[in-house]
Amino acid sequence: MPRLAVLISGRGTNLQALLDAHAAGRLAAQPALVVSDVPGAAGLARAAAARVPTQVVAPADHPSRRAWCAALLAALDAHAVDLVALAGFMRILPRAFIARWRGRLVNVHPSLLPAFPGRDAIGQALAAGAPVTGCTVHFVDEGVDTGPAIARRAVPVHPADTPDSLGQRIQTAEHALYARALDAVARGAVRLDGDHAAFADPALRADLLPPLPQAPTP
Ligand code: GAR
Repeated sequence: MPRLAVLISGRGTNLQALLDAHAAGRLAAQPALVVSDVPGAAGLARAAAARVPTQVVAPADHPSRRAWCAALLAALDAHAVDLVALAGFMRILPRAFIARWRGRLVNVHPSLLPAFPGRDAIGQALAAGAPVTGCTVHFVDEGVDTGPAIARRAVPVHPADTPDSLGQRIQTAEHALYARALDAVARGAVRLDGDHAAFADPALRADLLPPLPQAPTP
């Protein structure tokens, strides 16, 4: 079974969903390491409670971005990691890191990409008056939330939604989707092929990656 590292910066509810999915036999990747770039991130306690090793690799502890990148890579090597999941990791990764992990580096983002990339995707969706948003799991490339999509779920936006209420609804969708998408990557049922995700089974593709909802016609 591939060994999984999860990179976090904050609460770690997606990390928790991955830990729970593995414990329930729904994720064919062994959580082997949790790395945070933020000392004291709440997600670190979730990893410790599941007896998964943790490491803080904070940029402030390193003299340069290159040294920080080397420390991240060394942490993954030291734990014989095969697959890396970003779960609320709020820093742009260095190109050298992405090059080393291409095809084995996956992110979850709280929008239907390519809509609303970057920070505050939920605020962006509310400000745009979007009737539907959602979440996307994708392979990571050098862009900000631009890599090939593996899985998506649409989530309706309600007229009375606040950032909190919409965020909760999206996170519920993320928690179910991320484990399923990572399980497919871990089993080799989906892999990066150039600029797209290639699925072994068309039914799996149809389930994980339904077409984007059509924009309403005026
Ligand atoms: C998640 O909603 C994730 O999609 C988002 O951060 C949240 C982390 O929550 N990531 C991004 O916005 C990345 N661009 P969590 O720490 O509770 O899993």
